[in-house]
Amino acid sequence: MSEPFALAAFLARWSAGIRHDLAASDSETLPLAALLALADAEDQRRWAALDLGYADPRGAPWLREAVARRHAGLAADDVLCCAGAQEAASCVLRALLTPDDHAVVVLPLYQPSEQAVTARCAATGISLADDGAWTLDLDRVAAALRPNTRLVLANFPNSPTGASLPRAALDALVALCRRRGLWLVIDEVYRETDPVPAPAVVEVYERGISIDGLSKGYGLPGLRVGWVACRDRALLSRTLAVKNGLSSCLSSASEVLAHVALRRSKSILARTREIGRRNRARLDALLARHSGLFEPEGGHHLAFAFPRYRGGDADVFAAELARDCGLLILPASLWRSPLGPLPVDRVRIGLGHARVASALDVLDLHLATRPIASDAQPASYQAARAAERRLRAPERS
Ligand SMILES: Cc1ncc(COP(=O)(O)O)c(C=O)c1O
Repeated sequence: MSEPFALAAFLARWSAGIRHDLAASDSETLPLAALLALADAEDQRRWAALDLGYADPRGAPWLREAVARRHAGLAADDVLCCAGAQEAASCVLRALLTPDDHAVVVLPLYQPSEQAVTARCAATGISLADDGAWTLDLDRVAAALRPNTRLVLANFPNSPTGASLPRAALDALVALCRRRGLWLVIDEVYRETDPVPAPAVVEVYERGISIDGLSKGYGLPGLRVGWVACRDRALLSRTLAVKNGLSSCLSSASEVLAHVALRRSKSILARTREIGRRNRARLDALLARHSGLFEPEGGHHLAFAFPRYRGGDADVFAAELARDCGLLILPASLWRSPLGPLPVDRVRIGLGHARVASALDVLDLHLATRPIASDAQPASYQAARAAERRLRAPERS
């Protein structure tokens, strides 16, 4: 039996008392009315005439076409839509792997994807180096390959580190996989919140498999629209056969809304990135003000940051914030893996939502008053606590 999903268990443990969310990795969502207001005449017609019968199990052809158009040289039949990126990853990994195979898994990785591999076959983990750039050591990847290695699986841009794979490293990894005839599966759900996204792997490698969806940068996780993009149609058919055992089709309402979002990606993503940029600047200023507690991060990802916490145990810190401030951040230990070492002295702080600004103010005040020097500075301590209470008050109602 695999370990329980640590992130889901952490959220279930704490979310009831949470008023300030710095845990989310998705972006500010759009209310239904705002998304529909972006629909062109064709999508308005689709929406008005929405057929609520069973839909195409692969996803509507016009939706797959819109996904394919994001990538040079891809057609609708190179795309299989699934209920979120998580289902997409799980189905393609199950279609690819047998118990006789071996997989190389780049860590950290989204736990359900890691477990989709380890439930199926032997796996070797290669951890990104905690060297300031989260470098992937390709020599270690090469050394981990076995005669029965079937694929390399990674998540770039990476959660929780925010690391992206530089173009040269992607090319070198593709060259290695090509030499050995390996599939290269990359979960790219955070590509839209990378300031300088690398090309999707499906664009640069004939055995490249891109997993993506609308949950993160588009801020539409409630639609449950994700996909596998891959130029091997036989593999997509096998992936569809796995998916057929899980869900028959997407929600047809979600298909229309997803199509609207993809057509209006420019404006939706511009808004997402602007919110992320502003929150990133706010967080950087906060980290600088509390440099005794945090190492300056120097990251650039717009969905989350992953600073090193110098104040003690990061798990204890996250629990303290949840309990004392109703504020949620994620300790790095949630990405712990049996396949390899990962830093546990960091926290992931989400940046994608407008509400992050006030949550950072709460965090800032808490950190300012935290060393409870009530004997030394009773007046300033009390004043800061009162300010913190005032700041939190409106969100309680
Ligand atoms: C790296 C990664 N992949 C996949 C997912 C799941 O995405 P979806 O909600 O589209 O299934 C997540 C969600 O947090 C994630 O962080």
